[in-house]
Amino acid sequence: MPDITLTTLQSLKQKGEKITMLTCYDATFAHTCCEAGVEVLLVGDSLGMVLQGHDSTLPVTNGDMAYHVAAVKRGNNGAMILADLPFMSYATTEQALSSSAQLMQAGAHMLKIEGAAWLADTVRLLNERGVPVCVHMGLTPQAVNVLGGYKVQGRNENQARQMRADAIALEQAGAAMLLLECVPSELAAEITQAVKIPVIGIGAGNATDGQVLVLHDMLGLSLSGRSPKFVKNFMAGKDSIQAALSAYVEEVKAVTFPGAEHGFSA
Ligand code: KIV
Repeated sequence: MPDITLTTLQSLKQKGEKITMLTCYDATFAHTCCEAGVEVLLVGDSLGMVLQGHDSTLPVTNGDMAYHVAAVKRGNNGAMILADLPFMSYATTEQALSSSAQLMQAGAHMLKIEGAAWLADTVRLLNERGVPVCVHMGLTPQAVNVLGGYKVQGRNENQARQMRADAIALEQAGAAMLLLECVPSELAAEITQAVKIPVIGIGAGNATDGQVLVLHDMLGLSLSGRSPKFVKNFMAGKDSIQAALSAYVEEVKAVTFPGAEHGFSA
């Protein structure tokens, strides 16, 4: 068991102390993130883009995920390891169980799936079988072809009402955590207030219980040369990666990152 457990995250939410999360795909960065005090290492399927060079997360396999989870586990020193179940690896409950077994046995402590209230049965089943689940809502990159691009979600009142209801339904189904991506800051704040479980944001304002960024983005590394609005380059003005990671932790804890300029309105 890691030093940072679900109980730690729940108590950080209760105390109003922000939770720090970064994506992480290998042992050296796991070690470096832990030194900086990052509490949750997300082995994200964003590795399909930042490590493998694909233009989406869809080509990533469960085998790829297991390989990187095992690498992160070897460098981890007390952080919680959260891992993505990749595209179509939880399309049926049978697939969800066998994919989850592979990632938990590789070293994950919690798994993340993308969607909304339609995942309630999957969440319930995995939780009953010993797998804590984080549900990634809002902009769900595995559904980029349905969404028609990487766009802010929940901007109109119907979508916002649906997202609030979905968050509550997922909490009731046993979700351990929610992650909101590219959601108007005000809506993210309402959802964070409405549920007792921790809510992590990316492009969702500073009122969520914690923040996550893609490691390469916050280190100023980009294949396309473009950077989303919600990203801050923490390497700017720093002379080491360690200093950039520490600055991220400090700014999330002090609620100086994200600033208003990193968020979206309805
Ligand atoms: O895969 C990933 O890196 C993610 C983050 C964008 C939250 O899910």
